[in-house]
Amino acid sequence: MAPVDPHSFTDSAHPFTVHISLTLYFDFPSSTISAATLLSLAAPYSGDLTLDTRSLSISAVLDPVSLSPLPFSLSPSLPDPVIGQSVTVSLSGQAQVLVLSKTSPSSSALQWLSPPQTFNKTHPFVYTQCQSIHARSIFPCQDTPAARIKYSAKLNLPSQLSAVMSAKHVGRRPPLPAEAHGVCEDAKWCGDHRVVEEFVMEQPIPPYLFAFAIGELGFREVGPRTRVYSEAAPTVLDAAAKEFAETEEMIKVGEALFGPYEWERFDLLVLPPSFPYGGMENPRMVFLTPTVIKGDASGAQVVAHELAHSWTGNLITNKNNNHFWLNEGWTTYAERRIVEAVQGENRAALSIALGWKGLVDEMERFKGNLEFTKLKMNQAGIDPDDVYSRVPYDKGFQFLWRIERQIGRPAFDDFLKKYIATFKFQSIDTDMFLDFLKENIPGIENEIDLKLWTEGTGLPPDAMELVSNIYSKIVSLANEFNLGKIPREDEVCDWRGQEWELYLKSLPKSVEASQIKALDGCYRLSESKDYEVRVAFLQLAISARCRDYYSEVEKTLKEVGRMKYLRPLYTALVQEEEKGVARRIFSDACGCYHPIAKGMVEAILAKHV
Ligand code: BES
Ligand code: ZN
Repeated sequence: MAPVDPHSFTDSAHPFTVHISLTLYFDFPSSTISAATLLSLAAPYSGDLTLDTRSLSISAVLDPVSLSPLPFSLSPSLPDPVIGQSVTVSLSGQAQVLVLSKTSPSSSALQWLSPPQTFNKTHPFVYTQCQSIHARSIFPCQDTPAARIKYSAKLNLPSQLSAVMSAKHVGRRPPLPAEAHGVCEDAKWCGDHRVVEEFVMEQPIPPYLFAFAIGELGFREVGPRTRVYSEAAPTVLDAAAKEFAETEEMIKVGEALFGPYEWERFDLLVLPPSFPYGGMENPRMVFLTPTVIKGDASGAQVVAHELAHSWTGNLITNKNNNHFWLNEGWTTYAERRIVEAVQGENRAALSIALGWKGLVDEMERFKGNLEFTKLKMNQAGIDPDDVYSRVPYDKGFQFLWRIERQIGRPAFDDFLKKYIATFKFQSIDTDMFLDFLKENIPGIENEIDLKLWTEGTGLPPDAMELVSNIYSKIVSLANEFNLGKIPREDEVCDWRGQEWELYLKSLPKSVEASQIKALDGCYRLSESKDYEVRVAFLQLAISARCRDYYSEVEKTLKEVGRMKYLRPLYTALVQEEEKGVARRIFSDACGCYHPIAKGMVEAILAKHV
């Protein structure tokens, strides 16, 4: 018995599942899903098969051919707080297992929104967030990216709603008797006002890329292979269609740089404001926070990032979370190449500069826990959500950029294309990457300290802060802030969100409350529609104990659930001994947060007792 992944019960001696067929009945009143999961192996097998679950109740494990029960056992002790509970099925010559199960209303992957929590306020909404280890809270599976699966799914939902998935849409039709596979009685499955939506994913994906959303959805066409979906609200759809108009251009740039786009469609789904991330690279259907819609280039940068994952992350996947930098570092590099080609060098340079600032801050955050400043890290016993940081993104970016500087861009581009073509549809680790690098760039290990970069803590001496003209100008203005200088109108007239964000993040950590107010008096940053700017400002305001802004802080924490905004604001509040304020806001707001975001804020509140 050898685990293949510190975050999964999957056993290296067991065969991998190659296909999963899901039959799902969505019950909105109880916020639960009844599921029949048919797992297929490549060949008949005798012996144990261990699957991951989290807060699932399992009612039966069956041989799908004979429908006779198969012996199974749940891991004997209490569920592991990080990885959940295993279920081990004993097979004797079967190539398939059918598991009947039901989710809990607190399933960590799912957010159920009641009608009042939606934009149109008439219908409920539910969506998934499976990365890194939440797929197991929807259906039992070998929930490790080392296992790649194809899947098909039949979703039974109320007929006023529709569904999208990270898969090809096959059709929408009335439910048929005898296809319920035991998830519920046929009468319920075929009840009034129910409909079935069918999907297939024909390319093998890691389980964390499984995704769906169900609600009153609408869409707009934005390109030959792209629609943007969201709740059926014309204002949201129109704004989204405008914001993402350059998507096709980005896909073409991606293809020129990284090779063919292998997923056929590249649709976008704009989620309710509680979506806990900026974006999630679900294949064929990227999930996005509505906060990216701001009529500014940086919104498209999130799309560039999720698009880049189509090659780095979705085609080539980290074998487990210890090698997460292979997903996010490569994608950050690829994102900035797309941004450079579509928006120009200046935009890419600002993104690199902001990335650097974020990375330096993370080094401070993890100064007592240097393991998490490594590219290849040991996450055994650690919840990946607890150590999520910019390190895999921007230290990963720095490493790849360092290699690019060493060998030159043309050679790096050849290497990048060959890397993708060689490992596509595989899950790999850092050593496989390094072996491939050394094989294809002979002597690179004598030029760059590869071990220091991948296994060392902190920032290697040959990491580089990119100093562009605009960057120097912003930093020198920020340095003058403490001398009482507020930037003049003519100095900031062409600034967009990223310039302001860089300015605010370059200000000294402790600033005078009066200065903060003066700055806001001129530029109204506390009310910026750009949450990056607003949150960077409010964070400073809290650190300066400027209570005048607490109502704006509260409003922000109640209108969005993106963790990138919740984390700094709640952290700043508790650090300034404002735990009471933080707790009160959280107790009002948490009903609107995704379970992952809720857990993250609870951890912040618990740490600072
Ligand atoms: N895959 C990540 C989001 C993620 C990471 C979810 C780990 C769960 C666990 C996604 O591609 C991402 O990096 N999103 C960023 C976008 C940004 C870097 C442009 C985000 O959400 O901020
Ligand atoms: Zn990413």
